[in-house]
Amino acid sequence: MVGAGHTRFGVLPEGPRELLRAACDAAFASVDRGLERSRVDEAYLGSLGFSGWQLGNASAILAEEARVVGAPVTHVENACASAGFALRSGARAIESGAADLVLVAGLEKMTDVGSARRRYWLGVSGDTEWERLAGLTFAGVYALIAARHMAEHGTPAEALAEVAVKNHDHARSNPNAQFHKAITRADVLAAPRVAAPLGLLDCCPVSDGAAAVLLAGEEIARTLTDTPVRIAGTGAGSDYLALQERSSLTSLAATRRAASEASRRAGWGPDRVSFAEVHDCFTIAELVALEDLGLAPPGQAAELTLSGATRLGGRLPVNPDGGLKAKGHPIGATGASQAYEIFQQLRGSAGRRQVAGAERALAHNVGGSGASATVTLFDVGGP
Ligand code: COA
Repeated sequence: MVGAGHTRFGVLPEGPRELLRAACDAAFASVDRGLERSRVDEAYLGSLGFSGWQLGNASAILAEEARVVGAPVTHVENACASAGFALRSGARAIESGAADLVLVAGLEKMTDVGSARRRYWLGVSGDTEWERLAGLTFAGVYALIAARHMAEHGTPAEALAEVAVKNHDHARSNPNAQFHKAITRADVLAAPRVAAPLGLLDCCPVSDGAAAVLLAGEEIARTLTDTPVRIAGTGAGSDYLALQERSSLTSLAATRRAASEASRRAGWGPDRVSFAEVHDCFTIAELVALEDLGLAPPGQAAELTLSGATRLGGRLPVNPDGGLKAKGHPIGATGASQAYEIFQQLRGSAGRRQVAGAERALAHNVGGSGASATVTLFDVGGP
């Protein structure tokens, strides 16, 4: 990675084109020694379709707004993991020798449609026959996962609440985050229930926003900056769409497969990271992620979280940018936003939320309730 850009996340007045343009302009402007846009020879856009605003050919919007018209652009859609898969596609294009310079962007505009349309739009990324048509929302799906995790492992509600409290605290140091307000465990536990046991403050919000990163082969990267961030390994996995088909409710097989592939490719694994960006669309998702990534033994992510280890300053900071929970979750932008955060952190430019001595990191991006997932490992190594 040689450049990265990010818009604010939240309820924003800008439309999809403006958001994409701002993120891409910022990414190009961040390349230390400058980069001619005409040198980009491939681009990928992660997006769920910005609430139907541009259902087909959304790739052209990226070509136009990034001013790379002419370069092939592919629209990647894997629900909330769209940009994670776009990043993986970009990295593989470079790894294979098919491309030298790649733009990867993620975008969603979610707040300018009514709640019924948004519910439909989000819902069609889950199983239709057994879940959506029976009335299950994503909050409902993750509530089932939370209830099962609590029953199997005795996970206390306080641990879920602590994920939200921590991520809100972290987001206060992130100028791009949707929320800058501190909350307490009591606030989380007393908030209105959305789908029991999950309440309002256990949920990620509905967000607008975009993020973009620029990838280059290692040799070219060194001509563009003295401090590139290396994608050491990517991995991905899939699983059944409907929860009922899966072997477990409390673990995502797609994440486990993605982590194992990324580790094999990188030659090192999640146990070596200085911090992690994980997919916390609901508080339970962060606990499940920590266990599936091998950062906590099965059933013990709650204890790790309650110990303070996952806070900034702790042994293993998780979601220093506030995560999906408090930074916001514009569906297709999230995977690119995680890469942006890692770019800042591994270059020591994350300001007040800097993880001291950060040298290795991982990004974990999940599609819907786990039908797809990517894990990407980053470091500061290189030739
Ligand atoms: N966390 C914290 N505060 C939140 C919030 C969240 N997730 N969602 C909304 N709020 C706040 C708003 O800022 C607002 O505060 P204010 O009154 O101080 O301005 C208040 O709660 C009401 O906001 P509103 O937009 O009316 O909430 P809502 O009831 O329409 O929506 C949720 C709340 C939780 C249902 C909605 O955020 C949601 O659907 N989240 C999940 C999105 C999702 O499923 N994404 C895909 C994941 S796989």
